Amino acid sequence: MATSIVEKFHSMEYGPAPEDPSEVNKWLDAHQRTFGHYINGEWTKPATTFETRNPATGDVLATVAQAEAADVDRAVKAARAALPAWQALTGHQRARYLYAFARQVQKHSRRLAVLESMDNGKSIRESRDIDIPLVARHFYYHAGWAQLLGDLTDTGFDGEEFRGYTPVGVVGQIIPWNFPLLMFAWKVAPALAAGNTVVIKPAEFTPLTAIAMAEIAAEVGLPKGVLNVVNGAGETGAAIVEHPDIDKIAFTGSTEVGRIIRKATAKTPKKLSLELGGKSPFLVFDDADLDSAVEGLVDGIWFNQGQVCCAGSRLLVQERVAERLYDKIRARMETLRVGSPLDKAIDIGAIVDQVQYDRITKLVAMGIAEGATCWQPEIPLPKNGLFLKPTLLTDVHPSSTVAQQEIFGPVLASMTFRTPAEAVELANNTPYGLAACVWSENINVALDVAAQVKAGVVWINSTNLFDAACGFGGYRESGYGREGGKEGMYEYLVPAWTHAAKSKAEVVQEAREQRSENRDHDGNGSVGIDRTVKQYIGGKQARPDSGYSFAVYNREGELVGEAPLGNRKDIRNAVEAARPAGNKWAKTAAHTRAQVLYYIAENLIQRREEIVRKLSEFVGEAQAQVEFDSSVDRAFTYAAWCDKFEGSVHNPPFRMVTLAMKEAIGTVAILAPDDAPLLGLLSLVLPAIAMGNSVVAVPSERAATIMSDLYQVFDTSDLPGGVVNLVAGRPMELGKTLSEHDDVDAVWSFRDEAAAAMVKLGSTGNLKQVWTNEGRAIDWFHPKHAQGAWYLKHATQVKNIWVPYGE
Ligand code: NAI
Ligand code: MG
Repeated sequence: MATSIVEKFHSMEYGPAPEDPSEVNKWLDAHQRTFGHYINGEWTKPATTFETRNPATGDVLATVAQAEAADVDRAVKAARAALPAWQALTGHQRARYLYAFARQVQKHSRRLAVLESMDNGKSIRESRDIDIPLVARHFYYHAGWAQLLGDLTDTGFDGEEFRGYTPVGVVGQIIPWNFPLLMFAWKVAPALAAGNTVVIKPAEFTPLTAIAMAEIAAEVGLPKGVLNVVNGAGETGAAIVEHPDIDKIAFTGSTEVGRIIRKATAKTPKKLSLELGGKSPFLVFDDADLDSAVEGLVDGIWFNQGQVCCAGSRLLVQERVAERLYDKIRARMETLRVGSPLDKAIDIGAIVDQVQYDRITKLVAMGIAEGATCWQPEIPLPKNGLFLKPTLLTDVHPSSTVAQQEIFGPVLASMTFRTPAEAVELANNTPYGLAACVWSENINVALDVAAQVKAGVVWINSTNLFDAACGFGGYRESGYGREGGKEGMYEYLVPAWTHAAKSKAEVVQEAREQRSENRDHDGNGSVGIDRTVKQYIGGKQARPDSGYSFAVYNREGELVGEAPLGNRKDIRNAVEAARPAGNKWAKTAAHTRAQVLYYIAENLIQRREEIVRKLSEFVGEAQAQVEFDSSVDRAFTYAAWCDKFEGSVHNPPFRMVTLAMKEAIGTVAILAPDDAPLLGLLSLVLPAIAMGNSVVAVPSERAATIMSDLYQVFDTSDLPGGVVNLVAGRPMELGKTLSEHDDVDAVWSFRDEAAAAMVKLGSTGNLKQVWTNEGRAIDWFHPKHAQGAWYLKHATQVKNIWVPYGE
C-alpha cells in the first residue's frame, strides 16, 4: 500500500542515503592498496607494514609502511637538506604553494571526505561539511601569512608581520586519529607558511588522508623534502621526538604521551607545543535557551562520536532546570541516528578502533559502579562494526572517574550546581583546561563566567566552532601553545637574534678573561659584611627554614655578605603566598599595575647610590652603573606596557566575534641568570608581574645579597605582598622543587643548559609551561634581546572567547 507524502511527513521514516565509495576504492586500487612513506618527494617501497581498517565494517582498507628510526632519519635529512632552498624563496612563492594546496583540497574535496570517513568511521556529513572545508580554510589562511611574512633576510622576515622573526627549522609533527586531515592542515600549513620544512606522522588508525595530501604535494610541485610523511605507531612517533636534528616538535594527542614527549625532549633545545586532552565543561544556567543548549550538546558531545579533545563532556546544569533539560536531552537522543558513516543521514558513526571502543565501555561501566545513572535511547545500532549508543550519565559525583577522566566517546557526564560561583568551581575542578561552553541569556553571567573558567577556548551560547584565524589550545594539563591565528604562527618562529646568540659557556669564559684584566679595584673594597638579608615571602622578610646562610663573595673573592639558604619549605611557603596574591593581582586593573611599576622605577632611582655600590662588588663599577640604569629603564618600559599588550578581536566567518584575551598564566617560577644579576632578574620579573602573574624568583646565587635592596623597593612601591617572592639558595636545588611543584603554572630558567633540562624534566607532572634560554647567552643590556614583546608573550596565554555577534 502506497503511503502519502503527508503520512511520510508524519512518520519521518528514515531511509538510507549512502555516499558512493567507488572513487575512493578506485584510488586505493590504483595504489594496489599499499602505501610507502613519502620522503624527499618520493614514495618508498614498504618493508615492515601495518593495516588500516574501516571501523564501520572491519574491512582492511590498505597496507601501510611502518617507519623505523632509519626511515625517520632519512626523512629528517631530506627536510634539513630542503630547508635552505625553501627559505630562499620569497614569501609570495611559498604562499603560492599553500594556495595550491587549498585549491587542490577543494578540487578533491569529495574524495578526501569519503576517504576520511572510511578510514576513521566519522560521518560523511561531518567530514564533507566541517573537516574538509576547514582544511582548505587553513591552507588559505596560512598562504596569507606566508605572503605577509615577506622574505627572509639575515635579520629575519622583512614583511608586514613577524618582522625580525625567523623559521625554527625542521619540524617534527605527530597527529591523532580523531581529525586526521584537519590536524594535518593545522600542523603543516603554519609550519610551511613560516618557512620550515616538515616530517609528519599521522596516527596509525588513520594514515590515508595524509598520504593523499602527500600526493597533492607532489601534484602542486612542492619542492622535494619540504614535506615528508612517514607512517607508524608510537615507536615511530618516538623516533621523531628523539631525532637530534629536529628543531621543534608539535604534538596533538593524549596527555600521557604529551608527558612522555616533554621528558624525552628535556635535555634538548627543541621547541615544543602540546595540544592534549580535555574534560571540558558545558555550563547551562537556568535562564538559558534550553532547546538551543540541547542542540549545542549534540555538537558538543556527539559530534565525531565524542572523540573530540574539546568535547563538552561534562554537563554542568543549574539545579532548577536540570530535570527539564535532561528530559529534552533524552528526547533528542531518541532521534539521533547511529549508522554507516557513509550514510548522509546519520548523526553518529563508528568508533575508530576496538581499543578505543573497549576503553569507552570500560569507563562507562566504572561510572555506573561509582554511582552514576546510565541512560541510552532505544535506537537501533548496525549489527557489525564498532558502534556505540549515545550515553547520558546523571548523578555523577564531581570526583568520580567519569567526571575526571577523558572518555573520548559519545558519553555525557552530568552534574548540577546552584550558583554561578559553584558552577565556576566545578568547571575548574579538573587538571585540564582546553575548552568550555557557557549557556545563558544573561550577558553578565555569560561573560563573567567566561572570564573565570580556566580554558583556552570559551564558546558562549555556541559550541565547537573553529576558524583558522582564531587560536586554539589549552591551559594547564591540556597543553601549551596555540594552533591557528597569529599565536599559532609564533609556534613555528623564533626571534632571529636567538639563532645567532652565543652559548652561555662562551660568554662565561669571555667574562672570566675580562675580569682578570680588570683587577684594578674599582670598588671601594670595604662595604662591611651584610648579614641582614632574608628571604622575601608574602611581602614579608622571612628567616630561611634551614636556619643556614651561605657566603657571598665579591669578584675579588672577598666576603661581602650572607644570604639565606633556601630549601623546599621556603619554596612551598613562597608558592603558597604567590597563589592568592596572583589571583588578585591578575584581576587588578592594568592601569593600577602600571602605577605600581612606575613606582618601582622611581623607588629604584631613590636607592641608586646604595644599589650601585653593592652591585659594583660583583660586576665592577662600570657595569653596575649601566646595569642599574638599564634596570630602571626596564621598569619604566614594562610600566608602559602594562595596559598596552592587549588582546585582539577576530572575525570568523560566522555570526560571532572571537575575543582573543591575553591572560596571566598564574604563578611563574624564575631562575635568574648570574650575568647581570640585577638586570637579568628584573628583566624577567617585571614583564611577568606587568601581565598580572605572581612570581617566585631565585636570584643569582653569586650576588644574592642584592635582593635585600629589591624587596625594600617593592615594599615601598605598593606592590601587594606575595606578588613577588624572592628565595635565595642553590638555583639547581630550588629550581627542581619549583619545577616539580603542582601549584606553579610556568617555570622560566635563564641559567645554563643543565638548569634548562632540569626544569623541563621537573615540569612534566602538571605540564607547566617552560621557557628557557636553552643555554644561550642573553645580552641583558640590549633591549632588542632583553625586553619587549617576546617576554610579554611568554608572560601571557590567550583565551579565545566566542561571542554571538551581529545578524
Ligand atoms: P596517543 O596520544 O597515543 O596518540 C596520538 C599520536 O601520538 C599518534 O600518532 C600516536 O602514534 C603517537 N604516539 C603514541 N605514543 C607516542 C610516543 N611515545 N611518542 C611519540 N608519539 C607517540 O592517543 P591514543 O592512544 O590514540 O588515544 C588514547 C587517548 O588519548 C584517547 O582515548 C583520548 O582520551 C586521548 N586522545 C586525545 C586526543 C586529542 O585530540 N587531544 C587525540 C587522540 C587521543
Ligand atoms: Mg582506519
